[in-house]
Amino acid sequence: MEDIVSLSKRRGFVFQSSEIYGGLAGFYDYGPLGIELSNNLKQLWWDSLVHARDDIFGVDGAIIQNPMLWQASGHVAGFSDPMVEDQVTHKRYRADQLAGVDTTDLTELSKLLKGKKSPDGNPLGEPRYFNMMMQTWVGPVQEEAAKVYLRPETAGSIFTNFLNVKDTMRAKVPFGIAQIGKAFRNEISPRDFIFRVRELEQMEMQYFINPKDQEADYEKWRDFAWNFLTLKLGIKESNLSWHEHSPTERAHYAKAAHDIYFNFPQGPKELWGTHNRSDFDLSSHAKASGKDLSYLDEQSGERFTPYVIESSVGVGRMLLAVLTDAYTRDSVAGEERIVMKFHPRIAPVKVAVSPLLKNKPELVALASKVYAQLKSQFGMVLWDDNGNIGKRYRRQDEIGTPFCITVDFESLENQTVTLRDRDTAKQVRINVDALTQSLKQKLEQE
Ligand code: GAP
Repeated sequence: MEDIVSLSKRRGFVFQSSEIYGGLAGFYDYGPLGIELSNNLKQLWWDSLVHARDDIFGVDGAIIQNPMLWQASGHVAGFSDPMVEDQVTHKRYRADQLAGVDTTDLTELSKLLKGKKSPDGNPLGEPRYFNMMMQTWVGPVQEEAAKVYLRPETAGSIFTNFLNVKDTMRAKVPFGIAQIGKAFRNEISPRDFIFRVRELEQMEMQYFINPKDQEADYEKWRDFAWNFLTLKLGIKESNLSWHEHSPTERAHYAKAAHDIYFNFPQGPKELWGTHNRSDFDLSSHAKASGKDLSYLDEQSGERFTPYVIESSVGVGRMLLAVLTDAYTRDSVAGEERIVMKFHPRIAPVKVAVSPLLKNKPELVALASKVYAQLKSQFGMVLWDDNGNIGKRYRRQDEIGTPFCITVDFESLENQTVTLRDRDTAKQVRINVDALTQSLKQKLEQE
């Protein structure tokens, strides 16, 4: 983890938020390469769901909604983690983490924690629930009636827009609604870099189905998550595993839940959840709002409240998984290097262009022409003429640039450049005119 945190800061992936003021626990800023990487992850997810299919529609809901939404969804009453307090320092800890178990059952946690000390060596109080909803007020008066919540998950405004999307897009069940956006959780102990944060971004998709299809659709969305990670992002299968939630672990809305665990530096932990939320959400919102959220299947004449299969993943957690999976130490020509082996499709910088020497105007002129040509096609292309060529390659390896192009003296004679592959460090000569097409193919390879 230390290596990844250090590289993230050194190379501009992730910074502590408000760092010059000492930071704020559980909040992070993404730097120039981090935002490129996260945009690439989000775009791929969006393309795979909203653009590639005709039964999934996008929305972008407000972060602050009518608080009745969160009462109906059960979050105001039940979105809690078990916490335990150090009796001397009054620092609070997640009880399940201190006990080293995946349960939220207070009786069980109380038994497991009996006689245990806090990380500071002090006695602990009894475990109790702590609500993670972040609150603020709308309007000038900070009174109970003006209290609102920052959304704890993006799903809320998907359920409240069920009718709007169905009617405007003439959607027929089964159909899905996808959303990417920020969510806020007052986590008791934010930890492990960007793994558990208080301001997070989620990619969530709620698929509305006929209840009779729940088993088959649940399996389909589990497969989608696994295939996205392995085939689209190129994450190694050996880093992934399934974890089925026990009844005490499941969220208050879930009838069944399977997480994909990733081997994070701190151990295998939840990356992506697939949940069968049954008709919990639409039924609760129908009851609380008085609106009819049932669905009439015009062909069969059947009326039912759709079940929801949810696919939910954190952008930051996916980014940490990608950083961990890509982080490699190997050696090239006897020299040790750190190389980020991102799939070219998600690499923040696609290509770097270098003139062999920066004080030879004819090399710089041709390299500039190549740079302009590639920049217009691939966007994130870097110009690098600093230091010797070996140093430049090491620098690009460390940020995971899949291809480096060097313009040398032979280029001036025959209009070919060297194209270096990050993973093999092998170089081939390629004609300037064929560069764009060749790179396009290489970047899109499965
Ligand atoms: N709508 C369902 C839902 O929010 P969740 O398991 O609480 O379910 C879904 O969260 C995903 O969001 C998780 O699998 C994880 O990737 C991400 N996530 C949840 N809490 C997080 C946190 N505090 N920091 C970073 N990511 C988080």
